[in-house]
Amino acid sequence: MSLKHALGISLTLCALSLCALGASSPAPAVRGRGATPPANLSGAMKEMGGMLTTIKNEAADPAKSDQTLKDIATFERDVAISKLQAPPYVNRLAAADEKAKALESYRVEMNVLTRALLDLEDAVSAKKTADIKKYLDQLAQIEKQGHQEFHVGG
Ligand code: HEM
Repeated sequence: MSLKHALGISLTLCALSLCALGASSPAPAVRGRGATPPANLSGAMKEMGGMLTTIKNEAADPAKSDQTLKDIATFERDVAISKLQAPPYVNRLAAADEKAKALESYRVEMNVLTRALLDLEDAVSAKKTADIKKYLDQLAQIEKQGHQEFHVGG
């Protein structure tokens, strides 16, 4: 086979595979609520606030548990996004040791929040109403404590 011929074949194959990629490129996995990941801490927290309200309204309804589980997963994603950022209060701290301590505490709180969300997720999957309420109450406490500690809202 001539070099020209071989090149022609490989170019055609390349074009075909590009076409195939384009034709079969999957639709975005997440649609609707939470489809676009928030870009910063404030955006992630805002979405978490919205998710918590929605979850509170739908969590006890077994018919809505599929949607609730998606909302909890989105919430968990937003906590991970938050964990990659530092609270403005921490950024304002001048002393390096104070800053490091506050950041560590922030990460610990974020992990407490993630664990409560995982527990809530299990309770929703198992349709355990009393546990669902228990973990929703825990989430409210964790939010209150986190916001106090990091001087959110005044
Ligand atoms: C159920 C859990 C939580 C919910 C639903 C929640 C919700 C919110 C909401 C709605 C805001 C206001 C966002 C805005 O308008 O800019 C906010 C801000 C904030 N939250 Fe949370 N939060 C939760 C837990 C926490 C925890 C545990 C911490 C810390 C450990 C935390 C730290 C912050 C900080 C630092 C801000 C200010 C962000 C900024 O101004 O950039 N939150 N949160």
